This record gives sequence, C-alpha cells and structure tokens, in this order.
Amino acid sequence: MTPEKRFKVPRRPPAPKLSISDVAREAGVSPTTVSHVLSGKRPVNEVTAARVRKVVDRVGYVPASLARSLTRGSTSVIGLLVPDISNTFFAQLAKGVEDSAHDLGYSVILCNTEFDSDREDHYLNLIRSRFIDAMIYAAGSPAPKPRLDALLGHFPIALVDEQVDGMESALTAVADHRAGGRLVGKHLRDLGHTKALLLSGPQNLRSASERSAGFREAFSGHVTEVAADFREEAAHTAVAGLLGAGPPQFTCVFAANDLAAFGVIAALRDAGYAVPQDVSVVGFDDIRAASLVHPGLTSVRQPAYDIGRTAAAQLLEYVAAGEIPPASKHILPVSLVVRGTTDKPRL
Ligand code: RIB
Repeated sequence: MTPEKRFKVPRRPPAPKLSISDVAREAGVSPTTVSHVLSGKRPVNEVTAARVRKVVDRVGYVPASLARSLTRGSTSVIGLLVPDISNTFFAQLAKGVEDSAHDLGYSVILCNTEFDSDREDHYLNLIRSRFIDAMIYAAGSPAPKPRLDALLGHFPIALVDEQVDGMESALTAVADHRAGGRLVGKHLRDLGHTKALLLSGPQNLRSASERSAGFREAFSGHVTEVAADFREEAAHTAVAGLLGAGPPQFTCVFAANDLAAFGVIAALRDAGYAVPQDVSVVGFDDIRAASLVHPGLTSVRQPAYDIGRTAAAQLLEYVAAGEIPPASKHILPVSLVVRGTTDKPRL
C-alpha cells in the first residue's frame, strides 16, 4: 500500500455512556481528581491514580472529548518517533507517552530512526497516510525544509527532547539542556579541575549544542572539545584515539550522554587509567544503569518520563478537540546526581 492511501481501520465498539462522575463515584474520588489523573496536568497520589485507572479500564470510560473525536473517524493511534530505542532514556520517555495515551484511550506505535534522516522521513510519512491521529517527534537529525513544510500547521505534532530549528511554533517538551551543562561545568570546576575533555554530541542537534554551551559557561579552565555522538561506540573510539597519542591532557570528561560516558570509561580502563582516580567522568540523562554500575556514574538527571507524559497529555487534549496545538514550550528542570565517577584531580 502506498503511504498516501488511507488505511482501513476497524471501528471501535461504541463506548458505554458513562460520565466522569460515574468513574469518580466508583473510585471514591472527585471528578476533578479523575480529570487530573487522565490529563496528567496535576500530580495525583500514585495509589489514588492507580485506583482511578483501574476503574477507567474496568468500565471502559471514554472522556467526552475523545468520544467526539471517535465519531469524526479518527484512528485513536498516535506515532512516537525516537532516534535510539536501545537507549533507556527513550524507554522512560515512551513510558510517559504511553501512560498518558492509554489513560485517554489512545494506542501508540513506536518508530525507531537510529538518528537516520531517511528513516525519519519514512516514518513521518505516516502523517500523510492518516493512519495516526498525532505524532510525538524526538528528532535525531536536523530537519530539512521540505519536511518542516509537511509538518507545520497541518497536523497535531509535539516535539520532545529536541527543539528543532524552524519548528518554533510546535508544542515542545524538553529538558533544560543548557542548565544541565552548567551544572556539570560548575561541579568539575568546584572539585578543582582545570583541564576538561568535552566529548560532545552532534552539534547540529540542539540538545548537544546547548549542553556544550552551558558547560563552557560554567567551567573556567581549558576545554578540549571533540564531537562524537550519543552512543557508546563513537565515544570509545574517540577517547581511545586520544589516549593512543599519549597520556590524557585532561583530568575530567563531560560526555554527551550516559551511553557515551560508559564508552569513555571503557576506553580509559582499556588504556590502564582509573576512574575517578586518574580521570573524572560525567554523563547526561541519569538512565537506570548509571546507578547500577560501579563506581556509580555522576550524571545530569533528565525527567524523561515527565517529558513524554507532558507532551502526550497536552497534545491529545487538542487532538480530541480536533485542533492543531498552538505554540507552547515546556522546559523541564534537570539536576546533577553526584556519584563515584567524579573526584578532585590528582595533584
Ligand atoms: O538523543 C540522544 C540523547 O538526547 C539522549 O541520550 C538524551 O540525552 C537525549 O536528550
């Protein structure tokens, strides 16, 4: 089937006519609490939220706004496009999207692009097929002009993790990458480091360039910057190459993300250097593995789940109303989690 052809989507059975008050009564909470659980807009105690979701599932409650959209012939499927499904940062983000979508009666299809521009184009064609009602897009490559023209203003779309130049009018949920870079620069400076290796991600991606800029703003010493990518292998190769030329000219490394930090640590270890005794290493994301390795990885924590949940909840509100979301930017805060891979430099 060509992407232009409309898919035939089986119709859902009609939803029982239940109101939000019926769900609230069953769950023993107020209708407002049910609304907060389903929209994700306000925090609700986890036990209460789980009870509400259970009732929603059991009685098959469909919010009125969503019921209206079903009669308009939507598919109740949304696309989630991520650059690296093997990075558990995106697993957490997907969990937030899926939880929110599930609460609102939508299903999610996951598209993995491997940071490849052709794959991104391929999956963005889903938009033209009308098989999906909306798209949540974590860009892994700079978007060319024709792609932007196809997306903007015509279809409900939310950007997550990456801001995309030229898509300033899109609903956007990202972490404060620049503030994260600053936290790392300050931490390493305060420990007394004066020579840093900044192993940055692709500088044509905003997350990477902002982390680098933030780091340079706060670290007062000498910075050697080498651009790699967001994966372990490239980081390992880059650091092994530097170490092959002689002893490290740096006492600390800020890696593009946690996966890259693991590549850096492996390369240092392979060359006989200890972390943090010889070189301190910091990552970005604070994925689960960061706290499980030994020594634990010092990293910037991004609220990956909340990024996904916020974007999906906001986007689907507009989708249910049959509207394109207006421009809005949600910058979520980050924090530094200090563990065993950073210490004072050796004198
Ligand atoms: O897209 C790759 C990286 O960007 C992830 O590891 C995470 O850091 C995200 O912000």
